[in-house]
Amino acid sequence: MSHFDLRDGVLHCEDVPLPAIAAAVGTPVFVYSTMAMRTQAQALRTALAGLDDPLIAYAVKANPNIAVLRTLAREGLGADVVSAGEYDRARAAGIAPDRIVFSGVGKTADEMRRALAGGLAQFNLESFAEAEMLSEVALAMGCTAPVAFRVNPDVDAGSHAKISTGAAHNKFGIPIGDTLAACAALRDLPGLELRGVAMHIGSQLTSLAPLEAAIAKLDALIAALRSQGHAIRTADVGGGLGIRYDPALPPPPSPADYGAMVTRLTRGRDVRLIVEPGRLIVGNAGVLLTEVIRIKPGPRCPFVVVDAAMNDLMRPALYDAWHPIGAVAPDGTEMTADIVGPVCESGDVFAEARRIDRVGAGDLMVIGTAGAYAATMAGTYNSRALTPEVLVDGGAWAIVRPRRTSDAFLADERVPPWLAGDREPDRPT
Ligand code: LLP
Repeated sequence: MSHFDLRDGVLHCEDVPLPAIAAAVGTPVFVYSTMAMRTQAQALRTALAGLDDPLIAYAVKANPNIAVLRTLAREGLGADVVSAGEYDRARAAGIAPDRIVFSGVGKTADEMRRALAGGLAQFNLESFAEAEMLSEVALAMGCTAPVAFRVNPDVDAGSHAKISTGAAHNKFGIPIGDTLAACAALRDLPGLELRGVAMHIGSQLTSLAPLEAAIAKLDALIAALRSQGHAIRTADVGGGLGIRYDPALPPPPSPADYGAMVTRLTRGRDVRLIVEPGRLIVGNAGVLLTEVIRIKPGPRCPFVVVDAAMNDLMRPALYDAWHPIGAVAPDGTEMTADIVGPVCESGDVFAEARRIDRVGAGDLMVIGTAGAYAATMAGTYNSRALTPEVLVDGGAWAIVRPRRTSDAFLADERVPPWLAGDREPDRPT
């Protein structure tokens, strides 16, 4: 069930009419549904209930807002983090250290120290050089770092090239064929304790087949490692399960299908399963609420110029991603239009020649499925404000990140001494 529904002809998020949020906060604004996130978290928990104490480590990068993290922490989710910033957020949200996995291909010594001092479940190591650095850092701190090796299983995730991570040419993990030797060499690094193996083959996967193939490889690897005397206790299969963006396409596998598959492949293996879902939990829990600035005639169809732009939601420009778009108060008629933002780039297009609800200047619209990889990837290009975020829970709502205006950014900037003191240029008379 969607938590964004038309009631009396007006789109609501749970029990809150979106025009009320637009009137109070202005547009553009991201709006998130608590229930939508909770429903997804619970669906995944239920799907994994056949396993002994699995760890659902929510991939913080998908939506790191502290209110989102707290909502998910209350659902019992842990965190997959890839930077000290994400680690700190997870901790600030109240996620227990032993439910935090530290991934990422370029962890620095400072980040290692921060996580070791605060505690964590494991580091997912991406190279042997990283293992050597972590061992030194841990020894200097007088502790031992719990680690898993992230392997690159060399499977084609079948997703967009920019979000596939499990092929041999991708920068992630160590080649699966090198893992036995790497783990043997790990015995010479006294600052580390090998706990498990990890992988993440890509994002927005719409078929379980590549995941299943990669998990089978991981399973064989665990058996081989154990036969060499390594006590493998965790198997982290990453995130990646896709969600529905375009209702005209077949739906991706459900959390239940996914859970059944990973349960079948990992039950009885005497390992703790770790999963790192991001998009699955928050993707469909958010919309980008925007106002039509004006309609401009175009050669094929009109341009609907909205006040959101590529700096707010980069996915269409970056990955040619398709997002649903509709009016907040549709009048039942339709039009074909290019939906574009105000940024000075031809790529600032949310949709081309799209059939949408008829809209005019001043109307509110939503760009859907904007809960994941949206606000967190936003920027201020063209000196635009950083778009605010609102969290809805039933009939209650709150601003969970205020709009940060271009004035605030300007105030942060400094004029160096050699440029100081310029008079304002004379105005032409
Ligand atoms: N674990 C690791 C190590 C990851 O790198 C990622 C995502 C995840 C888990 C979560 O994947 P998910 O369940 O959300 O698919 N900006 C892109 C997506 C980049 C994903 C990066 N890594 C987009 O907007 O589609």
